[in-house]
Amino acid sequence: MKIKIFENYEKMSIEATRIIASQILRQPDSVLGFATGSTPLLTYKRLIRLYEEGLISFKKIKTFNLDEYINIDVKNPGSYRAFMENTLFNKIDIDEKNWFIPDGNAENIEEECILYDKKIKEQGGIDLQLLGMGTNGHIAFNEPGTSFSTRTHVVSLKQNTINDNSRFFDRLEDVPTKAVTLGIRSIMEAKQILFMANGAAKAKAVRDALEGPISIDLPASVLQLHPNVTILLDEAAAMELGR
Ligand code: F6R
Repeated sequence: MKIKIFENYEKMSIEATRIIASQILRQPDSVLGFATGSTPLLTYKRLIRLYEEGLISFKKIKTFNLDEYINIDVKNPGSYRAFMENTLFNKIDIDEKNWFIPDGNAENIEEECILYDKKIKEQGGIDLQLLGMGTNGHIAFNEPGTSFSTRTHVVSLKQNTINDNSRFFDRLEDVPTKAVTLGIRSIMEAKQILFMANGAAKAKAVRDALEGPISIDLPASVLQLHPNVTILLDEAAAMELGR
């Protein structure tokens, strides 16, 4: 596990951009795993800039997002589909048939979960998975208590996750309470993981994930078992680390 600590969010994002761009240059048909939320926002902005400067292309890149809310209008800006379109996909040369997000409105959601894992397999698996973490240690929407053997599945969101995510909605009541998410096992199958956390609110979960016992009570702690994970932190998120 490589841990890199940066002075601030911007410097952390520059390093994340460098790692993703170098993956794209090395393997232009890479399968990338993308996350939503605040953490990767600047990284996406910088990737767009590299694309605009003609330095990287997403023409052959395939992407799989980690998760999506259940029963949310895809036009709702709070939906992860709209988030990805607005913050990245509409601004780069990715082919619409090459990006995948779980369909939270699928008639048969259990079937959608199986299909999503199958699609990832068909593309040869995820080469580089970008990951953020919730303040309660969740990765994707795998909340504390989720078995490490889960594949894509349906989850009920914990109240603190709903509270954290309400900033993307007009009202707390508008935040969906269920989601479909890549499972822990599906995430751990990625060939490489790029984990990012910034801000003091994540410091305790960062410490527990990296230095605490590996436990389903802190889902991100499973990353200690991954053979190829790079951890990028800003100083605020790293401040509780002992080692
Ligand atoms: C998003 C996701 C979540 C977020 C986490 C952190 O696709 O899977 O696990 O990475 O909730 O969110 P932010 O980055 O908004 O703090």
